[in-house]
Amino acid sequence: MFSLVLWAGLLLLSFAIAVPVTNHWAGGFQARVCFKIDKEMSSWVIHLTFDHPVETIDVWTADAQSTSADKKQWTLTSKNWNAVEHVGDELCIDLMGHGTGDFAPVITATLEGASGGGSHQVATSAPATTQAHHQGVATAAPVHTTPLSVPDGNGFPATTRVSNVRDGRSDHYLTFTISGPTVMGWAVKFRCSKPVHNLNVREADPLSHNADQTEWLLVNNDNQITIKPGTFELKIELELVTGRDSAPQCSATLTNMGVDKHTCGQPPNKANSKYNYDDVLYKSILFYEAQRSGKLPANNRIPWRGDSALNDGDGGVDLTGGWYDAGDFVKFNFPMAWSTAVLTWGLLQFKDAYQAAGQLEWMYESVKWPLDYLLKCHASDNVLYVQVGDGGADHGSWGRPEDMKMARPAFKIDATKPGSEVAMETAAAFAAGYLAFKEKDPSYSAKLLQHAKSLWQFAVTHKGKYSDSVSAAAGYYNSANVTDELCWGSLWLYKATKEPKYLEEALKHYDASPDWGMSWDDVFIGNQVLLYELTKEAKYKAAVEGTFREWFPGGTVPYTPKGLAYRLQWGSLRYASNMAMAALMAAEVGIHPDEYRHWAMCQIHYALGDTGRSFVVGFGKNPPVSPHHRSSSCPNLPVRCNMNYLHLDTPNTHMLCGALVGGPDSSDGYKDSRENYVNNEVACDYNAGFQTAVAGLRSLLVRHLHPEQKGGATCPYHGRAP
Ligand SMILES: *[C@@H]1O[C@H](CO)[C@@H](O)[C@H](O)[C@H]1NC(C)=O
Repeated sequence: MFSLVLWAGLLLLSFAIAVPVTNHWAGGFQARVCFKIDKEMSSWVIHLTFDHPVETIDVWTADAQSTSADKKQWTLTSKNWNAVEHVGDELCIDLMGHGTGDFAPVITATLEGASGGGSHQVATSAPATTQAHHQGVATAAPVHTTPLSVPDGNGFPATTRVSNVRDGRSDHYLTFTISGPTVMGWAVKFRCSKPVHNLNVREADPLSHNADQTEWLLVNNDNQITIKPGTFELKIELELVTGRDSAPQCSATLTNMGVDKHTCGQPPNKANSKYNYDDVLYKSILFYEAQRSGKLPANNRIPWRGDSALNDGDGGVDLTGGWYDAGDFVKFNFPMAWSTAVLTWGLLQFKDAYQAAGQLEWMYESVKWPLDYLLKCHASDNVLYVQVGDGGADHGSWGRPEDMKMARPAFKIDATKPGSEVAMETAAAFAAGYLAFKEKDPSYSAKLLQHAKSLWQFAVTHKGKYSDSVSAAAGYYNSANVTDELCWGSLWLYKATKEPKYLEEALKHYDASPDWGMSWDDVFIGNQVLLYELTKEAKYKAAVEGTFREWFPGGTVPYTPKGLAYRLQWGSLRYASNMAMAALMAAEVGIHPDEYRHWAMCQIHYALGDTGRSFVVGFGKNPPVSPHHRSSSCPNLPVRCNMNYLHLDTPNTHMLCGALVGGPDSSDGYKDSRENYVNNEVACDYNAGFQTAVAGLRSLLVRHLHPEQKGGATCPYHGRAP
C-alpha cells in the first residue's frame, strides 16, 4: 500500500545519458553527471550503471549507494538541501569513484524524480500539519523552520582583482570583508561572464556548477575552516572553457555556514512560576527529537536533522529508529531503555503537567519513538538486540549522522549469551508503555505488554550480565550486576498486571540499602519507591528514608558551595536530577512530601539558573552554547563536517534545544566547551530523570502543592532529612 502511494509520484525524467569521465588514475576516477530539469521535483534519485565494478563513491551533494552485488549499479539520492529542483535548473553532480586498477568506466545515468510529497516537501510543510494535528493543545511555541539551502547572494560580497592573464587562464583575487561572528565553515558562490572549465583554490573545493559553467559553488576544505572578522582574501586560478579568450568578469559572495538562525521558540509561563517549566518540557522533548535515528516522520521539528542510519539491522531484522545515545551516534539500548522507562514513568505520574504545558501529544510521540525501536530489537522471545554501532569507530570520528559512512554492526543477547539487566530494563519500559498507552492505543499497549512478559521470562530464565555477553558494550555501558534490574523490571510487570509471581520475583532481588545514586545502571531507589507504592509496607518507606538521609544535607553525599548534591564529576547534574525525580515520586506516595519536594525543587532549580546560569541549552539565562554533541556542532550542508569542528572554540552551529549538559565540578566550576565531555556532554539518560522531575514540579503547580505556592521555597535547601 505504502509503496504504491510512493511510486505514484515518481517520474522517470530522462533517457539514459552517457556520463563523461573527467580524470582517472590507479584506483580511482572522477566524473560529472548533469541533467537539465524539465519537470518540477521534490526529490530525486540518479541511477548509475558502470561497465566495471566500483567499490566506493565519494560524493558530497548526494547519498551514494551500491544497488547490485557486482557493484556496477549505484544510486545517488538527493540531500534535503538540494532535493527540490525546478524546471530550467541544471542538476550537476561531481563524484569520485574507487575500484581496482586504473580504469575509465563507461557510465550511463538516468534521473528519477518525485513530483511532490517527497521528503523535502513534507518536511517544510510540517508546522502546518502538526499544528492541525495538535489543535487544542497547541500552546507549543512558534517553531521557525528555516529550510537549509545552498547559500546565495546574502553573504559577504567580494571585491575582485584580476592578474596574470594568459591563454584563457587568469588569477582572480577576491577580498571579502567579514563581520559578525567567526566564520565556521563557509561557501562561496562564484559567477563569471564566461564559461569556466576549471578552477583551483587552495582553501576550497568546487562542489557544483550550473549548466553553462558560469556559476560555481565552492566550499572550504581543511586548509581554512574558520575566518576571523576582518578582510579575507581568496586566490582563484581559473581556466576558461574557450582557451585563448580574455579574462572574464567575476563576482563572488561568501556565506558563513556555521550559523543557523533557527531558535527554539518559547511557550508562555502560564503558571507564573520562578522558572518556566512549560518551556523546559517543550525543549527537553525537542532534545529527544534531535537524537532521533532512522527515517524521520513528517512532523520532525528539527530542521537541521534528516534521515540517517537507514541500514541499521542484522540480516532480515530491521533495527532502524531509536535514539542516538549522547553526542555520538551509537544506539546503546541499556541506557535508552532506562531513559524510556523513566520518561514514561513521568508521563504516567505527571500527565497533568504535560497536559497543562501543552505537551501531552508530543510526549506520547516522544516515548513511542524509542518504544517502537525497542520492539524491533526484541526479534523473538529469547533474542534482544542491545546495541547498534561500534563505539570505537563512532567515537573516533566527528560529523553528522546523515553523512555517516562507517559500518554499524548490531549486537544481540540470547539464551546462550544472556543479559538480564538489559532485558529487564526493556521489559520495564514496555510495561510502563503498556500503562501509558492503555486508553490511547489499546492494541499498541497490548503488544507492549506481551513483549514485556516475554522479555521478563527470558531475563529470569537465562540470567547473566549483558556486558559479559556483548563485549562491544562493556567499554561504554558496563553493568555492575543484574539484581536491581531484575527487581525493577519485575515491579513494573507487577504494577502493570498485579500478578503475584512478578512481586515474588522482585522481592528475591530487592536491596534495602541506601542508593548510591540513580542512573542507567542503578535503580535501587526506584525499587524502594515502587515497592512502597505497591505494598504500602513500612519497611520500604524506611528504605526510601535511608536513601535520602544520605542525599540530604548532612548525609554522605557531598554538596557544592552553591547547593548541588554532588555525586560524581561526570554528569553531576544527572545524578542530582535523577534523585530529585525519585524524591518527587516518593512524595507522590506520601513520603515526607513537603521536605522531599522542597529539596528536589532546589536541585532542579540549580540546573535551571539558581547559580546565575542555565545548564540547559536554549533555556533561561546564559545557557550552554557549545555542548559536546556532533550533529549540532556541524556547519550547514553542503559544507563538510569533520573532527576539526570538535576543537573549534565557536558555538555549535545549531541550537540543541533542551539538552541538559553534564554539569559543574565540585566547586560549581564549569567550562562551556565542546571538548569538555566530562562537564559538557549531553545524553538521553541525562535528560530523562531531569525532564520527569520538571514534570513533577509542573504537576505540583497544577495541584497547588508547589513550594512556591505553599511558602518556603528558598534555595539552597539546608534542612536535614526527616
Ligand atoms: C550490585 O552492584 C551495586 C553497585 O555496585 C552494589 O551496591 C550491590 O551490592 C550489588 N549487588 C549484588 C547482589 O552484588
